[in-house]
Amino acid sequence: MVRVAVVGAGYWGPNLIRNFAACADTQLVAVCDTDQKRLTKALAGFPDVAPVREFDELLGRADVDAVAIATPVGTHAPMGLAALRAGKHVLIEKPLAASVHDAKELVTTAKEMGRVLMVDHTFIYSGPVQRIKQIVDAGEIGDLYFIDSVRINLGLFQHDVNVVWDLAPHDLSILDYLVGRLPRSLSAFGTCHADSVREIEDVAYLNLDFSGGLLASFHVNWLSPVKVRHFIIGGSRKSIVYDDLEPAEKVKVYDRGITVNGDIEARRGVLVGYRTGDVWSPHIAQTEPLARLVSHFAECIREGKEPITSGEAGLRVVRILEAAQRSIKAQGGRITL
Ligand SMILES: NC(=O)c1ccc[n+]([C@@H]2O[C@H](COP(=O)([O-])OP(=O)(O)OC[C@H]3O[C@@H](n4cnc5c(N)ncnc54)[C@H](O)[C@@H]3O)[C@@H](O)[C@H]2O)c1
Repeated sequence: MVRVAVVGAGYWGPNLIRNFAACADTQLVAVCDTDQKRLTKALAGFPDVAPVREFDELLGRADVDAVAIATPVGTHAPMGLAALRAGKHVLIEKPLAASVHDAKELVTTAKEMGRVLMVDHTFIYSGPVQRIKQIVDAGEIGDLYFIDSVRINLGLFQHDVNVVWDLAPHDLSILDYLVGRLPRSLSAFGTCHADSVREIEDVAYLNLDFSGGLLASFHVNWLSPVKVRHFIIGGSRKSIVYDDLEPAEKVKVYDRGITVNGDIEARRGVLVGYRTGDVWSPHIAQTEPLARLVSHFAECIREGKEPITSGEAGLRVVRILEAAQRSIKAQGGRITL
């Protein structure tokens, strides 16, 4: 049993609390929040779990093996570093940290202390993304040509981060999981409408360029009248459309594409032919992503394994976020990674 304390009982923390309490491999020992009302509300139904107001108190507790941090982004690095230095294993909410500098320090400290550092890139543990990864790794899609992602709705405005740092970690973590490398460069545009005083962008477009002909585009937006969660992966053989709002068939594989005419002379007339084959929807397991995530965290601690969503994976996503932020401030200037 890994004994866990959750820090932050706001919007997201209660999901971690519920899953750590339910997991057979973890024991929820304590929950920490500076806000007494939230703490009381989050602990209703968990009479054996200790309420803690001061984060430092957790670090001194011998009955806490691991700390899960679900507080605002700016607090991730200071809290994560303090917990690692106190010998705790650490799970941190997305994004891992507010800067590349901080994310690197977390990764280095976890290595020095010999502790597990994991980031909650929730979607990586979801049935649809796990299935997409299998399909891509099996070579069914062929070479990756493009990735097109739209994550927009009338969003919950954040005070400390813009729409890119809030929403794009989800899609960038899926991208990182599928592609496994950083883009060569990126360019991003963003605008502020609601909070232009503090320059918190609420609409943004990111374009990423990989070597090998892969382009990826991400639209994140808190002002859209409709909610869209759409992710398309275009390949040389097939393509995948992942619509997270579809109740049943979230993932569809399209055997559609082009075949380039090999005959140079004939190309003057017809460059490509069109292939319109079957569309199929794979079976997807229904397990809650966070249930998988907390059990994987416990497994990594027990067996000394590197998490799928390791500190390094969190750092790669933060690299893209920070570069996108710089590009937005430079009106779309191209940033090399
Ligand atoms: N994985 C996901 O899908 C997902 C979804 C939403 C939010 N998040 C992430 O979760 C984190 C929290 O977001 P939220 O929307 O729950 O925020 P929130 O503001 O609703 O909750 C944060 C909580 O942290 C507490 N807190 C702040 N500083 C503290 C401190 N020093 N010690 C103890 N408690 C402290 C606050 O009192 C508050 O209750 C963010 O990093 C966010 O990006 C992840």
